[in-house]
Amino acid sequence: RGIDELGDLRGQRVLLRSDLNVPLDGEAITDDGRVRASVPTIQQLTAAGARVVVMAHLGRPKGAPDPQYSLAPVAKRLGELLGADVAFATDVVGESARKTVAALADGEVAVLENVRFDARETSKDDAERQAFAAELAELGDLFVSDGFGVVHRKQASVYDLAQRLPHAAGLLVRAEVQAFSKVLDDPERPYVVVLGGSKVSDKLGVIDNLLDKVDRLLIGGGMAFTFLKAQGYEVGGSLLEDDQVDTVRGYLSRAEERGVELVLPVDVVVAADISEDAATAVVAASAIPADQKGLDIGPATIELFRGKLSDAKTVVWNGPMGVFELAPFAEGTRQVAVAVSEVQGTSVVGGGDSAAAVRRLDLDEGAFTHISTGGGASLELLEGKELPGLTVLES
Ligand code: 3PG
Repeated sequence: RGIDELGDLRGQRVLLRSDLNVPLDGEAITDDGRVRASVPTIQQLTAAGARVVVMAHLGRPKGAPDPQYSLAPVAKRLGELLGADVAFATDVVGESARKTVAALADGEVAVLENVRFDARETSKDDAERQAFAAELAELGDLFVSDGFGVVHRKQASVYDLAQRLPHAAGLLVRAEVQAFSKVLDDPERPYVVVLGGSKVSDKLGVIDNLLDKVDRLLIGGGMAFTFLKAQGYEVGGSLLEDDQVDTVRGYLSRAEERGVELVLPVDVVVAADISEDAATAVVAASAIPADQKGLDIGPATIELFRGKLSDAKTVVWNGPMGVFELAPFAEGTRQVAVAVSEVQGTSVVGGGDSAAAVRRLDLDEGAFTHISTGGGASLELLEGKELPGLTVLES
């Protein structure tokens, strides 16, 4: 259900769950992607005359107020992006929240303090969460779910509130679900998935689910070394999950049985240490020196991956190809990101680090079909799981 189906919004108090969980350096937001992504739904609501009450979390405070996790700087940024005053309640369901919401005029926006300052938000006890949802529900007439990054969490402001108030999915949640449904259920072929990131253990569910769907699976990043090890190579000081080598061997043979092309790095950028001025070298993936760590894919692998992506009609990319935060190890991620963006078809960037990389490396966000705002949520969708914050919206 979309916002249009909620009826006339003029004068209605809309409780909007957004995901404003952004990285902060002190009070400075280092990547405001999620704040920006929350804007279209807020604008749709305010344009329709709603009084918008934004609920969000920041980090993982311990169920009590903690200034380092205050949403105040995020509310400020939201105001800048909206070009409008945004009121801020210094508590979640207390006096400040009640007064702030009561003072809203039609078309105005307020942000409540971090919902996780109340321990009941994330409680495993259904009754506790529901009691908190009941208090939140007093602050609104309608509920709009737009925090895609938290829809995998069965939490009061994501899940229980939808059972109390007439509800709808916001524009971001709808766009995310549409993008993932397309690549999961109805991909045009060739269908190529690029996986990276440090740990293969984070991606087991994704590999399991996608291995039966894709035509090619390209593996880079730290997780590639466990694959190289499974193929019998030594990986020096590179990241390696010894306990996953057998599982990965299983994937290698499953890919072969299914006719899925599983493509691993043929060369890597190595260094003895992970630093901005590290002395680097390019070596064959089969010849990583014992005292070196592989920290990016090499130029031959970039070319190989570009070739495997060039005729793709559907691409999902999740996880950086190297330590892209440092210039000497950023090229693999940059080149792969560019190749993904150039695909003539659907290109979906699964959130978290890969989305951050697109922004950090100043790539053209508009060149991708969709850049997800979800970390864990997008991985769980790619794993084929049902997410409680989405299922609850169907009721
Ligand atoms: C995220 O950063 O992936 C979301 O905001 C969810 O945060 P969480 O993992 O703390 O629930």
